[in-house]
Amino acid sequence: MSGETVSGETVSGETVRGETSRALVLERFGSLPRLIERPLPPPQPGHTVVRMLAAQVGHLDLNIVDGRFGILPDLPVVPGTNGSGIVLSSDTHPEGSLVRVNGKGVGLRRDGCWAEHAVVPDAAVKAVPEGTDPALACGFFSPAGTAWAAVHSVAAVRPGERVLVTGAAGAVGALTVQVAARAGAEVIGVVGRPAKLDHVPAPTKPVLAAELSPETVGGQVDVLIDTVGGSVLRDALDLVRPRGRAVLVGYTAGREFAVDLADFLLADVALLPVNLMTRGREVAADAERLLAELSAGELTLPIERHSPDRLAEAVTRLRTGEAMGKVVLDLS
Ligand SMILES: NC(=O)c1ccc[n+]([C@@H]2O[C@H](COP(=O)([O-])OP(=O)(O)OC[C@H]3O[C@@H](n4cnc5c(N)ncnc54)[C@H](OP(=O)(O)O)[C@@H]3O)[C@@H](O)[C@H]2O)c1
Repeated sequence: MSGETVSGETVSGETVRGETSRALVLERFGSLPRLIERPLPPPQPGHTVVRMLAAQVGHLDLNIVDGRFGILPDLPVVPGTNGSGIVLSSDTHPEGSLVRVNGKGVGLRRDGCWAEHAVVPDAAVKAVPEGTDPALACGFFSPAGTAWAAVHSVAAVRPGERVLVTGAAGAVGALTVQVAARAGAEVIGVVGRPAKLDHVPAPTKPVLAAELSPETVGGQVDVLIDTVGGSVLRDALDLVRPRGRAVLVGYTAGREFAVDLADFLLADVALLPVNLMTRGREVAADAERLLAELSAGELTLPIERHSPDRLAEAVTRLRTGEAMGKVVLDLS
């Protein structure tokens, strides 16, 4: 995938490959996008052309590919709500600079980042410090912003509180346990399979979901931050103290769970949603700060890299919960 050109110009001394570009194109909801060679997307006013280097494969992207999300694009479409790359042409962003792309309907209402080239609204493009790993640049914002929003904006975790985090070896979960620990909480991290116990970042106490009980958790918790949903949410809710808070982030293990309303009132636990789409601006500065710490190795976000022609494998690993952390397509 080398040798890029826009309007016939070479970029960073690379060889010109031609006026075509590879993209993963979704033609039917419920199928997987196909990798095709197509003409370079033409520049448009108010838009930036980005040579993508990396793109996230996230659960939101899979919900869109499956046609199971409240906002869906017209087909055919290039999925990919988060990516990173080099600016090829733009009226507002310096050419040759490293940027990340997300928001403004990218991968949701218009073509996204699962392509060598993307033409995206200028406002969807954000500067990233030079030297940042492109995979980290495209993958950090969703887990970092969501972890920060869950711990600080929604749960308002206080020092000394006990916080239970599910999916604690996942992308959002791994950052959530670290952000909660830094907020002064005692953190317990829940994982679904024994292989993940060693992948929960310190200083969290790891616990298997199948063994969740007041004994294994050490009594009730003040806060639950759930990234898994389904039956895991139902079981974990029982461990929250009366007047505690339960924050729902995701639903990888199931979109539904039944609540007995009488029990819900008796338990007196607030169940609160996190929506990064409505909180992205509010947490942007904090997420950027976390990026600096991730780059410096002071925080951990595991990343799996996959080639775009192995999309099916990447998707399977994410869907089954086998993936360790952020799943990223290497488009370089
Ligand atoms: N609310 C928001 O604004 C927002 C923002 C970002 C992400 N999210 C959502 O948060 C959730 C977690 O995102 P993430 O990026 O952290 O994902 P992730 O890295 O894949 O982690 C999700 C975890 O869910 C668990 N899991 C249980 N059953 C699963 C199954 N059947 N398939 C896949 N995973 C399963 C896995 O942990 P165990 O194996 O340990 O159980 C997995 O590590 C997703 O639902 C995502 O859409 C929401």
